[in-house]
Amino acid sequence: MKNKSIFTKHVLIYLAIFSLSFIILGGSIYYAVSRHVINEKKTELLTKTRQISEEYSNSVYSGILNVESLQYDIRTLEEYLDSQVFLADKNKKIYVASEGFNKNIIGQTVTNDIINGVFSGDVVTFEGYFKEIFNDKVLFVGYPIVVGKQVLGGVFTFCTIPTLEKSISGITNVVLICMIVSALIGAVLLYLFSKRLVKPIKEVSKASRIIADGNFDKKIEYKSNDEIGDLVKSFNYMAENLDKQEKLRRDFIANISHDLRSPLTSIQGFLNAIIDGTADECDREKYIKIALEETKRLSELTNGILMLNNIENNKITIDFEKFDINDLIRETVSRFKPRIEDKKLEIELIFEEKETYVYSDGEKIFRIFQNLLDNAIKFSNISSKIIVETNIDNPKNKVYVSVKDFGVGLSEEEIKHVFERFYKADSSRNKEKACGGIGLSIVKEFIKLLGEEIDLKSKKGEYTIFKFSISLYQEMK
Ligand SMILES: Nc1ncnc2c1ncn2[C@@H]1O[C@H](COP(=O)(O)OP(=O)(O)OP(=O)(O)O)[C@@H](O)[C@H]1O
Ligand SMILES: [Mg+2]
Repeated sequence: MKNKSIFTKHVLIYLAIFSLSFIILGGSIYYAVSRHVINEKKTELLTKTRQISEEYSNSVYSGILNVESLQYDIRTLEEYLDSQVFLADKNKKIYVASEGFNKNIIGQTVTNDIINGVFSGDVVTFEGYFKEIFNDKVLFVGYPIVVGKQVLGGVFTFCTIPTLEKSISGITNVVLICMIVSALIGAVLLYLFSKRLVKPIKEVSKASRIIADGNFDKKIEYKSNDEIGDLVKSFNYMAENLDKQEKLRRDFIANISHDLRSPLTSIQGFLNAIIDGTADECDREKYIKIALEETKRLSELTNGILMLNNIENNKITIDFEKFDINDLIRETVSRFKPRIEDKKLEIELIFEEKETYVYSDGEKIFRIFQNLLDNAIKFSNISSKIIVETNIDNPKNKVYVSVKDFGVGLSEEEIKHVFERFYKADSSRNKEKACGGIGLSIVKEFIKLLGEEIDLKSKKGEYTIFKFSISLYQEMK
């Protein structure tokens, strides 16, 4: 079966609901109206029939028959109540009949048992067929003519149901017209509503196709607090994120190709110089050393990228252990000794306590500290100072490790971006330094994994402090 659009579905549902309500409501209204009309008629007939019967009994009683009044009553019945009347004596023989009847009805004897009750003095009402006189269904009222205690005969009034149906259909037609008008108004509103509902959905679907083709800047304009509004909001959010991801991907490829190409080109250059003999004996060793340094840089860069990739794919496990952070700091600093000496830096270690036991992943903390110290050395001014400090915050159960250098520093704008992948502040200045722009993004990911926090304060050309937290070891653990 062909897929139906929301619009078609709405129309079909509307038609189904409307038809059903039409049948139920129409049926109930018709039933209620017809009952009401028939009951009203019955009351009218009863009043009029009783009036005729009483008038007739009075005239028999007084011996004066007011023919005019009787005729008037019969005419009223005929003209205004659309009904007919006949009078029968106690032998059920008709002796007066309204004009609507066939003339030869006079003198006929009514055999239908329905009227028997009247001759015993009861009022009879009946709704159904009175085949003897009428072909159609009738509403019938019979009233006894009583003089003293004797029943002299009866007055019988009839109204055919088809006559009544005329007034019933008159009322129901009005209701029907109202229903049709409201259904039409409903249909117009439904049409407008469905169009409004479908429009953003169509746009979302169109935009998805545009996005699938690689254009992530597509935005949909639709402001509403309903579910469609939420859908559009989520869609725009998704498009925005895809756009960001795409930019990151492009930047990543651009950065990585640049960062891989430059050391490779320099290695190539040095090796060529050695092979074709341009480099003399004493340069050779220098060139080989530089080439070796470049390969180390390449390997660090690829390791960093691999690490980030592993973090992204949740391939990193955390192994908590108890260790002394002071030891870890001392040991890491000693590894950097040659570089510290090269730059004639003074490094000061300020430990709040002799031993500070923490409970964390030693390997990750080492990486974090190593990256921060590496940056501090790299971006320090020659012959300046680096201060590494620990501060214990017992209520928070944390120790804060800070690394402060007095080097190039960072501007407010740079501070916002340093933790981003491949971000290198002031690229011209970083050219000669071994900068991959990955160190701090790994630091940030590790801090997040360990549930710790990192803070950065810096002033351009003056200083930079990175400060991160580690959970203290508690005896209970
Ligand atoms: N202590 C610091 N002082 C001044 N600038 C810094 C400092 N630490 C980081 N930065 C700036 O932040 C940038 C990003 O640092 P990050 O450690 O992520 O990368 P990197 O040191 O350039 O390269 P990698 O760490 O991958 O070898 C650096 O390029 C530098 O511009
Ligand atoms: Mg770094």
